[in-house]
Amino acid sequence: GMVRHYKFNVVLKNTTRLCSTKPIVTVNGGFPGPTIYAREDDTVLVKVVNHVKYNVSIHWHGVRQLRSGWADGPAYITQCPIQPGHQFIYNFTITGQRGTLWWHAHILWLRATIQGALVILPKRGVPYPFPRPQKEQVIILSEWWKSDVEAVINEALKSGAAPNVSDAHTINGHPGPVSSCPSERGFTLPINPGQTYLLRIINAAMNEELFFKIADHTLTIVEVDAVYTKPLKTDTIVIAPGQTTNALLTGDRRTGKYMVVASPFMDAPLAVDNTSATATLHYSGTLASTTTTLTTPPPKNATSIAANFTKALRSLNSKKYPALVPLKIDHSLFFTIGLGVNPCATCATGVRVVADINNVSFVMPTISLLQAHFFNISGVFTDDFPANPPRKFNFTGTQPTNLGTMTGTRLYRLSYNSTVQIVLQDTGMITPENHPLHLHGFNFFEVGRGLGDFNPKKDPKKFNLVDPVERNTISVPAGGWTAIRFRADNPGVWFMHCHLEVHTTWGLKMAFVVDNGKGPNESLLPPPSDLPKC
Ligand code: C2O
Repeated sequence: GMVRHYKFNVVLKNTTRLCSTKPIVTVNGGFPGPTIYAREDDTVLVKVVNHVKYNVSIHWHGVRQLRSGWADGPAYITQCPIQPGHQFIYNFTITGQRGTLWWHAHILWLRATIQGALVILPKRGVPYPFPRPQKEQVIILSEWWKSDVEAVINEALKSGAAPNVSDAHTINGHPGPVSSCPSERGFTLPINPGQTYLLRIINAAMNEELFFKIADHTLTIVEVDAVYTKPLKTDTIVIAPGQTTNALLTGDRRTGKYMVVASPFMDAPLAVDNTSATATLHYSGTLASTTTTLTTPPPKNATSIAANFTKALRSLNSKKYPALVPLKIDHSLFFTIGLGVNPCATCATGVRVVADINNVSFVMPTISLLQAHFFNISGVFTDDFPANPPRKFNFTGTQPTNLGTMTGTRLYRLSYNSTVQIVLQDTGMITPENHPLHLHGFNFFEVGRGLGDFNPKKDPKKFNLVDPVERNTISVPAGGWTAIRFRADNPGVWFMHCHLEVHTTWGLKMAFVVDNGKGPNESLLPPPSDLPKC
C-alpha cells in the first residue's frame, strides 16, 4: 500500500447553528471535520497539532490497529493526551479492512465537534461485492448544543444529575429548519436520475441512537462497521452512536425533492433530544421552488422497527469475505451493564448517577494503561475484572436493593489468540436502556440477542454461528441482551465502553489486556518516539 499524509490542526472556530454563534473545538475549522481517504493496506500518518486549551486525543474508530495500539487514541487507555501546544503523529496501517469508519476525539466530550469520516476503499482493482455505484457520499449524523458542550457535562458532573440533552440533531453538520430557527439551512444531497449512490452513513451523535430514512426511497444496506453484509432492503435504517452503515440509493424517482430525516430512537423513558434533523435529496434538473416530498420518522420508541432491522442484518459470508466465527470458546464472560446511583455528599439530591459493567464503575488512570502494561509499571491497574457480575441482578420486577457500584481500574486479561464470548445483559437498575457497546482493537460477531434475562441453557442453542453480523459497536437492547464473540488476535490494551458518551462518563467502560503471542508477528510494537507524556 501507499502512505497517506494528513494534517489535523485542532483549532477553535466560531460556528453558527440554530441562529446563534459559539466557538467550537474543531479539526481544521470544520464540523464535521475532513474525510480521510485510504485504501486497504495503506499506511495513514495523521499529524495532530493541538492549538486549543484542552488536552486532545483522536481515535480511529473501528480501525483494527493490529499491533499498533499506540495509535488507537483513547486518552489514558493507549496514550497520554496531546497537551496544548504539542503534537503527535498517529501512524497506522489498515489491514484486512475496507469500508466506512470514522475518527473522533477520545477525551472529555470533545468528540461532539471533533469528528469526521474515514473511508477505506478496497485494494486497487478489487471490486465491491455489489453493483458499482456511480457516486459516493458521506453522511454524518450528529448533535448540536447551543451552549458550550464541556460546560454541559461539567455542570452535570457537579450536580450528579443527567446532562442537558442537545438542542438539535444534524446531518453533515446542519440541523435543517427547526421551529426555534426556521432559517437554519439543511444539507442538500444532489442526485442524478437513475444513478446509484453509495451512502456512507455514520452516527457520530453523543447520546442517541437514530433512525434514518429518505422519503419515497428504499435503501439497500451492503456494509456495516466496514464489513460487507448480505444486501438488505429497508426504508428505515437504525444506527447507534459509533456505528457506520453503507447503503445503496438509486435515483429511481428521476425528479423532485425528497426529505431526508434523522430522528432519535430511544427505548427508555429518559429525556432525549426529540428534534429531527432534516436534509434534502435533490434531483438534478428539479427547480429549487419545487415542494419537497415529506416523510414521517418513526416514533422514538419504535422498538419493533429497530429490533426487526437488527435481526435481519447478516454478514456477507462469501468465499472471499468469510465470517470466521469462533466456535470453541476459551473465555466465557457475562457482563451486566446499566445505570445506578452512588452517594454524593455535595450533590443536591444526595446521590449521583453512575454506570457500570459487572458492578464496577471504571476509574480512569493518570498514565496510559498501555504504557503501564508495556513497561510493567505497577499500581496503575489490576487485571481482576470480574468475569461474572458479583451482585445479583434483574432487569425488571423488584429492583436489586443495592443500586450502588464499586469503583476501580480493573482489566480482564486475555492470552494472545484466545477466543472470547461475552453476553452483555442490560440490568435496568434504574431503568432499562439501550447501550451501544463498542470494543476497540477488534471486530466481533453478534451471535445472539433477545429480550429479558439471558437463559444460559436455552439461548445458546439459537445462536447464529454461520453468518452473524460482524461489527465493532453493538446495541444491547433495553431490558435485553446480546452475545458477541471474537478472537483476541491483537496484543495491547483495548477499551470497551458504551458509546453513549454520558454513560462512558458515568463509568460504563472497562478494558481488556491482550498479551503478546509467541510468533514473530504476535507482539505489540514499541511505542513511537513522539508518544505524548502525561
Ligand atoms: Cu468511537 Cu472508544 O470510541
